[in-house]
Amino acid sequence: MVSDIHIIVVAAGSGTRFGSPLPKQFCQLEGRPVVMRAIDSLRRALPDAAMTIVLAESDIDRFSYLCNLHQFASPQVVAGGATRWESVKRGLATVADGTRLVMVHDGARPFPTETMIESLVATMADDAVHGAVPVVPVTDSLRLLSDDRLGSVPFDRSRLRAVQTPQIFRADELRRAYELPYQETFTDDASVIEAAGMGEVVLTQGDPLNLKITHPLDITIAETILNSAVL
Ligand code: C5P
Repeated sequence: MVSDIHIIVVAAGSGTRFGSPLPKQFCQLEGRPVVMRAIDSLRRALPDAAMTIVLAESDIDRFSYLCNLHQFASPQVVAGGATRWESVKRGLATVADGTRLVMVHDGARPFPTETMIESLVATMADDAVHGAVPVVPVTDSLRLLSDDRLGSVPFDRSRLRAVQTPQIFRADELRRAYELPYQETFTDDASVIEAAGMGEVVLTQGDPLNLKITHPLDITIAETILNSAVL
């Protein structure tokens, strides 16, 4: 039977900003790798969804070893590409025909909340909606750099939102959008859908706890979140 929702977890990045030979998605958070915590959270919210994890070719054996070690049921595994866009495209190739919705999540975000996931799925009940993405307000003051990057002007932060994952779309529309050639602005899936002219996505409420592990300090912050039982 084809699942109504297919989740693609992209975890094929090398994490250059993280600065460690072990990619950030495999770092331990209280004894469990970041990417397994991400999958645990998604499975709790959507137990019937199909799932694919996209991994760097060189990490496939590592992941299989970790699955044995943690007695963790591996989702379907597929090898990723040089960019997030290419990794999602390869994940999409595993989505069965007849699947209604595709959710894409960054494996480097261990704590997508159930409330956030339920709200994304509920938003897609409206047939007019092409996609939904969780966002959070920006808290820092902002400056916009001039074209030559030498000058800057203040920028109104109340008009900006930081975009998180998971993001959700109609499977057929996401497939068509991913037929576009790659652009550097494709850092998430909403940007691909909109570039393909599928229409604007709906913004839902994200959560500051849904952090993306980017720098080593984020591991300490994520451990604090885990231990504070706010999840
Ligand atoms: O680099 P960034 O943190 O924006 O990556 C977001 C997510 O995309 C991460 O979970 C990362 O593993 C994944 N990614 C990927 N393939 C790439 C680059 C990034 O799956 N080539």
